[in-house]
Amino acid sequence: MATINDITFIDTLAAAPVSVASGIERTICSAGLCGSKNLIAYRRTISAGRSLSVQAGDDYHLLYVIEGAADGQIRFGGSSHTAEEGAGVLLVPGESVSIDAQGSSLDVLHLVTPKPPAAVENGLPGGPGYFFNRGTLRALADSSGGRVRRFCVESSVRYPDGRRLTQTNAIQAGEMHYNAGGASPYHLHKPTEANPDGAAHCYITFKGRGKVDVGETSQVIEPGTLVYFPSGIPHQLNAWEGALDYFEIQAWRSFKTDILSNDPLGLKWFYVGESADEPKVEWNQS
Ligand SMILES: [Fe+2]
Repeated sequence: MATINDITFIDTLAAAPVSVASGIERTICSAGLCGSKNLIAYRRTISAGRSLSVQAGDDYHLLYVIEGAADGQIRFGGSSHTAEEGAGVLLVPGESVSIDAQGSSLDVLHLVTPKPPAAVENGLPGGPGYFFNRGTLRALADSSGGRVRRFCVESSVRYPDGRRLTQTNAIQAGEMHYNAGGASPYHLHKPTEANPDGAAHCYITFKGRGKVDVGETSQVIEPGTLVYFPSGIPHQLNAWEGALDYFEIQAWRSFKTDILSNDPLGLKWFYVGESADEPKVEWNQS
């Protein structure tokens, strides 16, 4: 039976710091650290007065501001945006971004995944990239009311007019909030024919504590923990002694999920409407 020893926990705040031109770089997920094949993750501190420039090259990059500043700037596609908490950019191959810290430093999550094969894209064009922030992303709530998520990159999330949020299956990534008592179902993710190694799957906690269950074993995690799940290892995440905010990643976005717990309330997700009397629209994950 799988146990908690089958997954990897990385304290992202204690990961080895490397001085780079923009400030501090900490590698928090890689083949060497946790066996991830298609995902490298960095936690970056951009020092006050410095800039981080990222050229996507042949890869997909997601940059997400964990801790922002009102005078920080994200320059992308000829426009400049405030580098506030919850803002960021998706870069597709060939695109670039500059994130500038002015009076105070910025804390940034930086994810890199290689361009996936055509079978993973499954007909999607693979781009373009875009700028996002928390205020413009669509919120989804589960039917239990215990969890709210905002995807930054997810091909199956649609705007009200039917357009996809993002046009690539290179990565699925977004913010998740659990209210006190919130939990995922006990579940596992399996590979697909298009992605035979399975997706690189991890959580990074920002605020609050969580409890991860695998089989009969569990571990409580502090803010700033990256939890990496090898494909096929069952898992459940619970908010622990209060609310929990974290970030959730799958790269590439080609996997099948088996729900193992009997939790009918937690399985369906609905778009959060502008007002309470709007009809509920279920998120169709295809
Ligand atoms: Fe999962």
